[in-house]
Amino acid sequence: MWSPTPKGRLVIVSNRLPVSIKDLGQGRYETKPSCGGLITGLRGVVNKDNEFLWFGWPGMEIPKDNVPPLKKTLMEERNAIPVLLDQNTSDLYYNGFSNSTLWPLLHYQLDKASFDDNSMHAYRKANKAFADTIMCELKDGDHVWVHDYHLMLLPLMLRQRAEKLKININIGWFLHTPFPDCDFLNVLPMRNELLGGILGADVVGFQTDQARNNFLFACSQSLRWFATGTGVLCGDREVSAQTFPIGIEPSEFHCRLRKSSVQSTVRRLRVDFRGTKVILGVDRLDCIKGLPQKLHAFDKLLDQYPELVGHAVLLQVVIPSRDDLKAHQDLKWEIQQLVGMINGKHGKVNYVPVQFLYKPIDPDELTALYTAADVCFVSSIRDGMNLVCLEYVACQAHHGTEALQSSRKDKAPGSLVLSSFAGAANHLDGALFVNPWDHERCADVLAHALSMDAAEASARMEKLGLQVEQQTSSLWGSNFIEALEKFGKSRSAKDRR
Ligand code: G6P
Repeated sequence: MWSPTPKGRLVIVSNRLPVSIKDLGQGRYETKPSCGGLITGLRGVVNKDNEFLWFGWPGMEIPKDNVPPLKKTLMEERNAIPVLLDQNTSDLYYNGFSNSTLWPLLHYQLDKASFDDNSMHAYRKANKAFADTIMCELKDGDHVWVHDYHLMLLPLMLRQRAEKLKININIGWFLHTPFPDCDFLNVLPMRNELLGGILGADVVGFQTDQARNNFLFACSQSLRWFATGTGVLCGDREVSAQTFPIGIEPSEFHCRLRKSSVQSTVRRLRVDFRGTKVILGVDRLDCIKGLPQKLHAFDKLLDQYPELVGHAVLLQVVIPSRDDLKAHQDLKWEIQQLVGMINGKHGKVNYVPVQFLYKPIDPDELTALYTAADVCFVSSIRDGMNLVCLEYVACQAHHGTEALQSSRKDKAPGSLVLSSFAGAANHLDGALFVNPWDHERCADVLAHALSMDAAEASARMEKLGLQVEQQTSSLWGSNFIEALEKFGKSRSAKDRR
């Protein structure tokens, strides 16, 4: 496990701060820790014993007079420093270039990507605001870990500023999304600037080997840099490119499963759905999650296996996300149409085939749903990793408390139906893999998952459980930081020579 050197602090940089901020008026703010893959992943390395700082956008424009009290609250309570952006810049940078250009492109959705110069300028301006804010605080020996597609230009900006000020820092950059192959990236007018920006880092990390290899190929094809087996040679400097698959902390789910309130929710769900198989879907509202594909597959399941009508439901939770985006508003509309179509077609007075919830879900309730569901269906058409499938496995593979065991004596563990386009498909041997575009085959696989015998289900879940236990988010965090630190040590050794 990584532990900080006496000299080097860990500096995390992400678009969003790991806290949600509530304006209480009169310059007062309330901060609450937020959850999510990145925050969970860094919990193991970012704690009170380690010296760390976290930079990010507070998610809103802060009036000038309120900046000092907000900064004070964030620093005292969370070791966090806000990067301030005006409303217009943040809108064009976040909703515009980050989420309407880069996000679809990185997920191979060329038809959904839009380009315009204003949002490109705002992206540069926002990355520069991050660089300027961070540089005011950096010290010699700091390890700076930059996250995700919002901040591709930042590593180079930091390197140039640090060189000018003669500060020695190690810079890492990690991409949480896929990295597409060149045919997709080539349509991006500023791709060379972005690749050059990333290569300002010393260590760059990806979720899968495929993403890493695509990145290496893009650097050699577009920038003409030489890709070695381990990274990219940029003049006299080698940037290390590695795969660091993110995970979850299964123990957090196991702790929740021990709560009596969670156990009673599981029992209540089992009673509510007695005689009915539950296929669970939990997704952020996003075009990459394959929600229409999932609904079409479920429709086909009921068409192809009429004996399941009245005995199988799709319980689909959709968590609102980036709701200023027109693409997301359109997607919500499309989902609602499909839910209505399926329920109208296959429903009965006492049977609603698709139960659709559009709201954030509390972690205890989510844990209970994962535990009670017979199947979890992840239908992403592209996904960096997808943590939902790991969370489902954590709940199903856990032998749980005696109280839960006894209420499921007759029940085999659930099954995971997983799109092979999710990064997690590379790490989850034991799932049933599907192509979400192939609705007929998805229906067959769902039918198999629903009727799987206990021996097969247990063998698969046991295998899955071991993998989820091994690939934890704290291991991900410490592996990356270790790589960064190792880089720093080898550089110091070279400098001494
Ligand atoms: C997902 C993606 C991350 C991304 C995050 C941003 O979790 O996998 O790559 O950084 O969304 O979410 P936000 O709500 O800030 O747009």
